[in-house]
Amino acid sequence: MLQPEQIVPNIYWVGALDWNERLFHGYTTERGITYNAYLIMDEKITLIDTVKAKFSQDLIDRIATIVDPAKIDVVISNHVEMDHSGALPAIAKACPNATHYCSTKAVAEMAAHYGDSITFNAVKTGDTLNIGSRTLTFVETPMVHWPDNMVTYSPEDKILFSNDAFGQHFAGSSRFDVDSDVSEIMKQARKYYANIVQPYAAQAKGALDVVETLDLEMIAPSHGIIWTEHIPDILQAYKRWTANTRVPKAAIIYDSMWESTAKMGRAICEAFIEQEIEARYFDIKDTHESDIVAWALDADYICVGSPTLNMKLMPNVAMFLTYFLGLSPRNQGRHALAFGSYGWAPIGPKQVHEQLAQTGFDMLFEEALVHNWVPNKDALNELQTKVSEKVRSIQEQKE
Ligand code: FEO
Repeated sequence: MLQPEQIVPNIYWVGALDWNERLFHGYTTERGITYNAYLIMDEKITLIDTVKAKFSQDLIDRIATIVDPAKIDVVISNHVEMDHSGALPAIAKACPNATHYCSTKAVAEMAAHYGDSITFNAVKTGDTLNIGSRTLTFVETPMVHWPDNMVTYSPEDKILFSNDAFGQHFAGSSRFDVDSDVSEIMKQARKYYANIVQPYAAQAKGALDVVETLDLEMIAPSHGIIWTEHIPDILQAYKRWTANTRVPKAAIIYDSMWESTAKMGRAICEAFIEQEIEARYFDIKDTHESDIVAWALDADYICVGSPTLNMKLMPNVAMFLTYFLGLSPRNQGRHALAFGSYGWAPIGPKQVHEQLAQTGFDMLFEEALVHNWVPNKDALNELQTKVSEKVRSIQEQKE
């Protein structure tokens, strides 16, 4: 069994590594997931968060290498979601003397998950809990990303136990940023933000404002690696993401039946490159939507293409739009374009145009750019020129 790891004197990582997890609510977790739980050995022995239910025994066994779990005095649950609370029933049995704490909003949610088998004490922002040589402080972070979320701060250790915030789905052999591939960690943190936190950017910004007032030497999230030397990097990234900062960048996303819509997508991509705008195309069949939304998080231009299938847009494109628009991307001032080929009715691309227009994008053209059957070289050149000129005029207006 993987031993606990002391992250600072008397505080141990006792969580679980889930190397095999590949899908989290439709989000691909190609690097697995960790469920981080932390044990504080103070006068009152304190556990912060637990793990997914199937790792309950791992958590208990790991704690038992340090102390008899029955001696745990305090269990703090920063979040109800079952990747963190799933082991609570097992912990309640193993730690019968523990007093449980969670946010005010979490109390009812916990009861809805676990009945009345565990009694929770509600805490709110600014409340403190003295556990001996430490006085833990709680800060509610509602809707980052559930109503009940909170974080716990240990001023004596300068550690923020941030739960989902600043997390990454990444199972690694090391617990710390300094011992990990930071570019991969930042990529996974971005993917996590884009797929989990993005709908709640405003609330996350509020939480970030509070976090920035704290004296921090360590951010210990409940997923992925612990931030130490790279705290400024992750805080800066969250600042950019929560501000919905856009960069000149275009994501071209499509599905295609006989490559006609794909050819249009590639021509549109080249139009952006011609205007010196970073651009990339994605065939939805080849790239998972959770990776596309991560790349497109700060893209100023979103172009979506679909042919017509059975008088509808392609199912893959409908799926992508449902997922992407469900993440409430901040569309104000953001540009979009719909395109696609068709046989006898341009319904698919028109439906894409309607969905994008209805959700607040500035559409580059009043209608979808469509082509009847197979676009030849001239048609593709014409499409590229049309898009290129439009993009140039928009970029000139911005200057
Ligand atoms: Fe990692 Fe919202 O649970």
